[in-house]
Amino acid sequence: MTASQIRETFFNFFQQRGHTIVPSSSLVPEDETVLLTSAGMQQFVSYLSGQKDVLKDFGCRHLASAQKCFRTSDIDQVGDNTHNTFFEMLGNWSIGEDSERGYFKEGAITLALDFFVGTLGLDKTRFWVTIFKGEQGVPRDEISLEIWQKQGILKERIREFGIDDNFWGPVTKTGPCGPCSEIHYDRGEQYGCGSRDCGPNCKTCERFVELWNLVFMEYEKKGDGSYKKLSQRNVDTGIGFDRLVAVLQEKPSPYETDLLWPLIQKIEELSGKKYLEHKKTFRIIADHMRGAVFLIADGVRPSNLGREYIARRILRRMIRAAYLLGMQKQWSTPLVSQVKSIYGDAYPEVKNSMIGEVIAEEQDIFSSTLANGMRELERLMKTKTEKKLSGKDAFYLYESFGFPVELTGEIAAEKGFTVDTKGFQEAFSKHQEISRKATERKFGGHGLLSATGGLKARDKEELQKVTRLHTATHLLHQALRTVLGSQVKQMGSDITPERTRFDFNFSRKLTKDELKLVEDLVNEKIEEDLPVHFVEMQKEEAEKTGALHFFKEKYPDVVRVYYIGYDLENAFSKEFCGGPHVKKTSEIGSVKIIKEESSGAGVRRIRAVLKDDQENCAV
Ligand code: SER
Repeated sequence: MTASQIRETFFNFFQQRGHTIVPSSSLVPEDETVLLTSAGMQQFVSYLSGQKDVLKDFGCRHLASAQKCFRTSDIDQVGDNTHNTFFEMLGNWSIGEDSERGYFKEGAITLALDFFVGTLGLDKTRFWVTIFKGEQGVPRDEISLEIWQKQGILKERIREFGIDDNFWGPVTKTGPCGPCSEIHYDRGEQYGCGSRDCGPNCKTCERFVELWNLVFMEYEKKGDGSYKKLSQRNVDTGIGFDRLVAVLQEKPSPYETDLLWPLIQKIEELSGKKYLEHKKTFRIIADHMRGAVFLIADGVRPSNLGREYIARRILRRMIRAAYLLGMQKQWSTPLVSQVKSIYGDAYPEVKNSMIGEVIAEEQDIFSSTLANGMRELERLMKTKTEKKLSGKDAFYLYESFGFPVELTGEIAAEKGFTVDTKGFQEAFSKHQEISRKATERKFGGHGLLSATGGLKARDKEELQKVTRLHTATHLLHQALRTVLGSQVKQMGSDITPERTRFDFNFSRKLTKDELKLVEDLVNEKIEEDLPVHFVEMQKEEAEKTGALHFFKEKYPDVVRVYYIGYDLENAFSKEFCGGPHVKKTSEIGSVKIIKEESSGAGVRRIRAVLKDDQENCAV
């Protein structure tokens, strides 16, 4: 069976058994505190905890889905037989069912065996299962033990584990969770370590593959770490789809299945190298390319923070792996096309044409510095008497060559070197502090407004222009968000008396119409002669106003929020900012956008001038 047929079979099986099929949610979760979607249950958390009514929203307590997932905790293991960054999880749910009518443990276990054995024809004698042994106030799962045996799984094939292996969730610190019971598949002695204790969760071999995790979600983890019974009982299950496909197609890993094999073949073609001689490098390229395509399809752009940093990290790991294989430029486009043809039917979002552009752009930026950075890293390593790189070394490579510290760590580890990552963080924070201070000096940051006191006439004139452009920049930021969508965020800015330069995240060139709309909106707000004010408030309060700010930037406890409009609540623009600004927007005069260009992968740069300065502007 092909992977697509297996996915379809799964949907049909559960639909025929009264489940509503729910589409995958985005890799970017609604919960802002979670970086990426890493499990099928994430989109159902508020139903599982009873906060939302599943019947009202889905018309049914029984749901099933194939969910796009991304896990970075295993990134270093990518290349072995079982770990991937991106993968799909097939799952079924029974939410808030009472024990008499609905399915809980018995129902979930019976359905799992029916699907695996009855429908897919997997050999039941190869199954081993695990159950929760009881720990931290949550009792042993005797009921599941009994059901598995009743269903024909031999007692000696059932192993018991504690919280670490057989208890699932919550996704964040608190929330719904519960003991779980897993089906592991014995792939045969040839994959084994031969130890007498070898079995599910064996730490030394890959003989047993975990295929299906059945979570009996009847607890809620509280802030103090204790587990309380939930007001309702749920079933939450997850099958690692890629692993299931590998088992059904009798392949050693997902890379040899039709989910990734076309990519591996293409890499052979593009590099002229053999997969079997460079397995790990090939696998990193295939895994990371697939992951990057899906992340970008869901709106994540490679950059330096949060999930955007994850996208950058996997792209740069991939580019380095390709470099090691000696792949020439322009190799990424055919690989992106492969991902599109493998996944385009099931996930049409991957067909978006800008994905290739974003990847090619990151490739352009990074490729040119990669070779220099590698040479520099090797030179640095040669100068050391001990096999250690300092935090300063790592920061130098980061700043000068764009090497994420993890990448430096990986390359260094190949030569037996360690990297002082704590020292790197310190060097990084120090650098941020210095550039923050420099920015404050330039624009007048928090508490620096009075800097105009002793300025000479020419300086005063220049400061006035910077101030007008500064307020114009706030208008521009908001106008871009209004025209292009609120996902647009400032990535940087630089204001001189001649012009403002504004960087923001966006994946493609703006059209002429869009630029015109943005420019018109800025000028409209100037013509409305809106007042510009600031209020000082506690940082937490300020965040609640929706004022724009840099997510990871360290702000003082009391911040200044500048707003353009008659009151804070309804203001056109609100931003954390130290000023200075004009008092009324009419002081700006009129603004013209003179250039729009790329400034890195997924980042656009706009330059704008005051119209009275337009003629003599040097960009
Ligand atoms: N939430 C569980 C998991 O991710 C089952 O879906 O494994």
